[in-house]
Amino acid sequence: MTAGRSMWLRWVACAGVLAIGALAVLSTAQSQPAVTLGAPQATELETLMNAMNGHLKFIAQNLSDPAMRPKVLERVHDMQRLAWTAKTRTPATVSGLPQADQAAAQLEFRRRMNEVLIECCRLEMHVIDGRASEAWNVIKGPMLKLREQGHDRFQEKDEG
Ligand code: HEM
Repeated sequence: MTAGRSMWLRWVACAGVLAIGALAVLSTAQSQPAVTLGAPQATELETLMNAMNGHLKFIAQNLSDPAMRPKVLERVHDMQRLAWTAKTRTPATVSGLPQADQAAAQLEFRRRMNEVLIECCRLEMHVIDGRASEAWNVIKGPMLKLREQGHDRFQEKDEG
């Protein structure tokens, strides 16, 4: 091989490595979540709750379509995992209590999240059995009631 041809091959190899590197950096940059500077950061519990809410909405909107049953079941399962995780997290309204009151309040929070989990299981059974109206009754009855009462009891009140 001539010296010129070998230099040219080396140059092509270098350019290839650089191009792959640039692609890797670009794809990493694109996968970063958009963060607005100065915006309040969501707590982990809030992130879990927001995800549960999204699933609940999807489930409610697609319950009566038999073709969507596999996707609905996936979302119900995800809701269960989120409720199961959330029950061991500590809301700010609990961590802000005097030390002596925290343990009982944490258990009460855990108990209520367990009830959400139980209703998710009931919901799943109705979806599996193809009983859309019973499934809907679980959402509009006990599930939304648990959400409302849980928030009244454990969510921080907005000042102003
Ligand atoms: C199906 C059931 C539930 C859903 C879909 C749900 C949904 C949500 C959503 C969307 C938020 C974000 C803030 C907002 O927009 O209000 C939130 C926050 C919160 N939820 Fe729930 N929730 C449910 C049940 C509960 C229950 C049973 C409790 C208490 C036992 C609870 C306690 C809280 C707390 C403490 C926050 C504030 C988290 C933070 O900002 O750090 N939630 N929830």
